[in-house]
Amino acid sequence: MKQSSTSELSEVLKSVNEATGLSNKHYTNQKIFNLEKEHLLFNKWCGVGFGKDVPEIGDVAPLTFLDLPLLLVRDEKRKVRIFQNTCRHRGMILIEKKCNIRGTIRCPYHSWCYELNGELRATPHVGGPGKNIHKSIKRSQLGLYEFKSHLWHDVVFLNISGEAPSFNKVHAKLIDRWIEFNQPLNHSGVDSSIELEVNCNWKLAVENFCESYHLPWVHPGLNSYSKLEDHYHIEEKGHFSGQGSHFYNQLKGKNNMTFKDFENLSEKWKTGAEYISLFPNVLLGVHRDHTIAIVLQPLSTDKTLERIEIHYASSNSASNKYKSMRKKNRTLWNDVFKEDIFVVEGMQKGRQGIFFDGGKFSPIMDSPTHIFHHWVASNLKKNGEMEI
Ligand code: FES
Ligand SMILES: [Fe+2]
Repeated sequence: MKQSSTSELSEVLKSVNEATGLSNKHYTNQKIFNLEKEHLLFNKWCGVGFGKDVPEIGDVAPLTFLDLPLLLVRDEKRKVRIFQNTCRHRGMILIEKKCNIRGTIRCPYHSWCYELNGELRATPHVGGPGKNIHKSIKRSQLGLYEFKSHLWHDVVFLNISGEAPSFNKVHAKLIDRWIEFNQPLNHSGVDSSIELEVNCNWKLAVENFCESYHLPWVHPGLNSYSKLEDHYHIEEKGHFSGQGSHFYNQLKGKNNMTFKDFENLSEKWKTGAEYISLFPNVLLGVHRDHTIAIVLQPLSTDKTLERIEIHYASSNSASNKYKSMRKKNRTLWNDVFKEDIFVVEGMQKGRQGIFFDGGKFSPIMDSPTHIFHHWVASNLKKNGEMEI
């Protein structure tokens, strides 16, 4: 079926009262998936991992993001860097398992060695047996390819095309909104991590996170203390959308023990919490005592890996004393995210319905979702005609 996507995108770009949602093929079609990979992910600041993946100097962690082999490195100055995990000699994959490196990153094929800052340090026998240099091998020009990256809320953001303005410029509005949370974050290992593989397109996870409309039916437990009417929309066209709650209920342990708060928070955060989808693929939540960060890793048109990390406001909360409370907190979050699986997977299945037209938004309840669709459509349209 040949369709003009450009005219469909115009429908998505209408006001929320008039607009339809993105059509099925944005969730099922491989060509559109590839286009979106380029225009919505590689061209933007996408989340690929976490600083906590490489906590110590010399830690290296390989990861694959949309087929791209990446290498996360914590360098000598504690800076997180991301390199292409490909040797400059014959293109061998450099690191296949997470480890700590003392010294240099050594390619297992012919032993070219790279510093943690990516510089090529050694090229054994490159000029013949016993000769480690050759005039045509200019080491200064053969360092590892380094991507433009930025660490915020412990999420490693990457601009793969290298063409985006700085992260601080692009996301100034959210950085400013949450400036009070610009404090050290504490991750406590396995009891702070959740990983879920869901059978849906990555955009459905973004869409489900930014709206509160589904709470009464999908999260009856949450809804019992934080009701639909206690929520408000967060909308920043072109950047992010989400929801806030006026009734964040702090977790209580034995003797009413609570996790320690971030320092100097304003009154709003005593009972407030906010959940924001930061376009394209990072979902974030803030509370007085912990944060949530989710990186959505698109695996295929209908498969997504959700990496969910909990960070605590205080190092004390990450200590042994709080172990059972952290376990409880992880279980609470795990349950909430699991409750969402049947809806994101159900929406994916629903998109096989050939007469689905992209859907009709509630102008009041679905405006955060419309903000995301608008962002998708405007970025695709900007890049010209799309005929499939
Ligand atoms: S491919 Fe890496 S040293 Fe040859
Ligand atoms: Fe949900």
